[in-house]
Amino acid sequence: MTTAVLRQNLGVIMAKQIIKIDVKTQKADVAKIKADVVAVGVFSSDKIGIKKSAFLETLDAKLAGAISKLQKIGDFKPTAGSSIFLYTNGKIAAERLLLIGLGEKNQANMDTFRQAAAKAAFEAVNVKAKSLAVFLNDEKKDADFERLGQIIAEGIHFGGYRYDEFITDKKEIKNKTLSAVIAAENQSAVSKLAKGIKIGQIIGQAQNFARTLCNRPGNVLYPAELASVAKKVASSVSGLSCTILDEKKLAAKKMGGIVSVGQGSIHKPRMIIIKYTPQGGAKKKEPIALVGKAITFDSGGISLKPSADMHEMKYDMTGGAAVLMTMEVVARLKLPIEVYGIICAAENKPDGGSYRPGDIITTYSGKTVEVLNTDAEGRLVLCDGLHQAKILKCKTVIDLATLTGACVVALGKHKAGLFSNDDKMSEKIKKAAVESGEPLWQLPYEQVYTDEIKGTIADLKNIGSKWGGACSAAAFLGEFVKGLVWAHLDIAPTMDTSEPMKKYAQAGSIGFGVRLLTEFLKNLK
Ligand code: BES
Ligand code: ZN
Ligand code: ZN
Repeated sequence: MTTAVLRQNLGVIMAKQIIKIDVKTQKADVAKIKADVVAVGVFSSDKIGIKKSAFLETLDAKLAGAISKLQKIGDFKPTAGSSIFLYTNGKIAAERLLLIGLGEKNQANMDTFRQAAAKAAFEAVNVKAKSLAVFLNDEKKDADFERLGQIIAEGIHFGGYRYDEFITDKKEIKNKTLSAVIAAENQSAVSKLAKGIKIGQIIGQAQNFARTLCNRPGNVLYPAELASVAKKVASSVSGLSCTILDEKKLAAKKMGGIVSVGQGSIHKPRMIIIKYTPQGGAKKKEPIALVGKAITFDSGGISLKPSADMHEMKYDMTGGAAVLMTMEVVARLKLPIEVYGIICAAENKPDGGSYRPGDIITTYSGKTVEVLNTDAEGRLVLCDGLHQAKILKCKTVIDLATLTGACVVALGKHKAGLFSNDDKMSEKIKKAAVESGEPLWQLPYEQVYTDEIKGTIADLKNIGSKWGGACSAAAFLGEFVKGLVWAHLDIAPTMDTSEPMKKYAQAGSIGFGVRLLTEFLKNLK
């Protein structure tokens, strides 16, 4: 198929609108908010008549005891992730009251509120509500309202998102818009919320667009298309510039890793390099690089994957999508640091022209690699991206990649793997993981794993032993970042929704990494 034909498809897709979410704040009395849904959080300890919550008591009285009745008959236990709708019959201004379980108060943290907000938006969209008010009661007087504004806005975007670009039956489409407010009774809270919401909106929108990119299938989103999306993103915000290396340029630069992986597909590879320069110059001299794996579809190549679940490999570009959208966030937030986003985009397919097991390839760094499995392609595109970061004089590099099934085996779908050659760096990343609610678990980066990928007839081989595949993959990447402060995030576990997350997010991509990288970079100020 020619590129022209493929492009025609895209015209149709781009015309469609994924639900547009907007978050504002408002000073209001919970009984007077006009909205299709007003959502209120309930801790397990907030039992009316037992351990009293003054706020809930008042609301309960206005609703003629509907909440206490619910708790009495045991239909609602406010565990985290639970929710129930109450129909207000005109007793308060909102059409529906949505109680959101927050779990135990002493176990709650900022992410509890993010997830609760996501749940509120998720349920609101399920009933096709167009307006949602998340009400913060006055009992949270000492809270950090700016931070809460950011986090709740992020949550609303996260839970309200639906990927429906290809649904042609209008009845099936949930909503075109969701207009949300975070409401509180006191003006000083509202002013602080407003500041945070601005940040949360930027992050939430960016993360959702990363999800859309990942949710788009391989026939629609291939490397050249990702490159043109990146160009558009870069030109939409000041401070960003974007350079695309197409297959000819990649070959001319002798980027043997990305060229080899991409050569079996009609969709040729691209390296996308986005630069963010802060207005007035950066405080730090050396730029930071974010390097993302963007395999727009990973069939395994000649070392073909089994067919079960192979379709999920359209998400193998999650790292690249997170890098792209983080670059947008960094520019919108005007962070005072210089950042490069390097996205290694290729499609891994079997074909007459494919690279093959046994091939020895010369990577951009000059190091040679014997390919023992064409399905271990992520490390081969990334090694050229990491070397590009070196060439651009970056001293700190973070790469994000859906790199190994072994990492999913190790951690389940709950946390991404973190590897680093620098303890201070890993501590900063762990802090950002907690703050962003995008969890990580550190795994070893050690010599024993590097020994596994030492080559016999080339410098390196692209796979290690049968065991600990996430660690040998990390060790492989480590060979290309000598002298740099480096962290590698194996985000294969979190490339799509885990089971518990399905309570508040549509199944599919979760745009993992945008919030995490943003928090990390914000903290560098
Ligand atoms: N993209 C996959 C890793 C992956 C697997 C991500 C499952 C998400 C869910 C990667 O390119 C891959 O295929 N890795 C191989 C490496 C092996 C051949 C050493 C794997 O994990 O099986
Ligand atoms: Zn693979
Ligand atoms: Zn892959």
